Amino acid sequence: MLQLCDIHTYYDDSHVLQGVSLQVPEGKVVALLGRNGAGKTTTMRSIMGLTPPRQGKILFRGQEIQAMEPYRIANLGIGYIPQGRRLFPSLTVREHLEVYQKKGSVWSVQRALDTFPRLKERLDNHGNELSGGEQQMLAIARALMLNPVMLVMDEPTEGLAPLVVREVGRLIQTVKQEGFSILLTEQKMRFALDLADEVYVMSKGQIVFHGLPQELLENETVKQTYLGV
Ligand SMILES: Nc1ncnc2c1ncn2[C@@H]1O[C@H](COP(=O)(O)OP(=O)(O)O)[C@@H](O)[C@H]1O
Ligand SMILES: [Mg+2]
Repeated sequence: MLQLCDIHTYYDDSHVLQGVSLQVPEGKVVALLGRNGAGKTTTMRSIMGLTPPRQGKILFRGQEIQAMEPYRIANLGIGYIPQGRRLFPSLTVREHLEVYQKKGSVWSVQRALDTFPRLKERLDNHGNELSGGEQQMLAIARALMLNPVMLVMDEPTEGLAPLVVREVGRLIQTVKQEGFSILLTEQKMRFALDLADEVYVMSKGQIVFHGLPQELLENETVKQTYLGV
């Protein structure tokens, strides 16, 4: 579905991603773990064309996207749920969904509400009146309105209370069952490993581990060195 081949990404002169390669197979959840500052968000910004790589290739369904404009990448079918959720405080739940509604999308406002019934009760609430879990739900629902086949989610549980974290976990399960391929970054290892089919760990802009969740759980060195657990 998605393939990053040796990408190098910079902020001005700062060489942040130093040869990142990873793959997200169709219908799978892939977790990208790493400490704060490891380069997880930059990897996602590179995929979405917001901070395009200066070197390397990114293939989405076989097509090179590393030099495309962000809106074209989104239109090809990659939904981005940025870190911090980025909702509009002044828009209601209904408005968030309506402004992103796309002609010909299999996702209507109604279908989004059927998938996330909690949002139905909050239709006329504004973005800033929602709980953390509801905000994440809306951020995902909004991304679905653009009819993606893949979702890129940046630390969906950041700043959420433990109970809400579990709720977001179930939310991602729901989305996975709809058949989406998902790339998920996290600092919470346990949370990510419960959801993921495969896992990558990054440190200082490089991939330092790739394997199955169980393999990471058993690898004390990687866990201690790169995740601090
Ligand atoms: N806009 C920016 N300008 C310059 N440096 C940045 C910018 N955003 C992030 N960085 C740097 O890039 C590195 C990776 O950051 P980031 O991708 O946000 O990591 P993570 O998401 O894993 O916490 C960090 O050293 C960070 O300071
Ligand atoms: Mg980040």
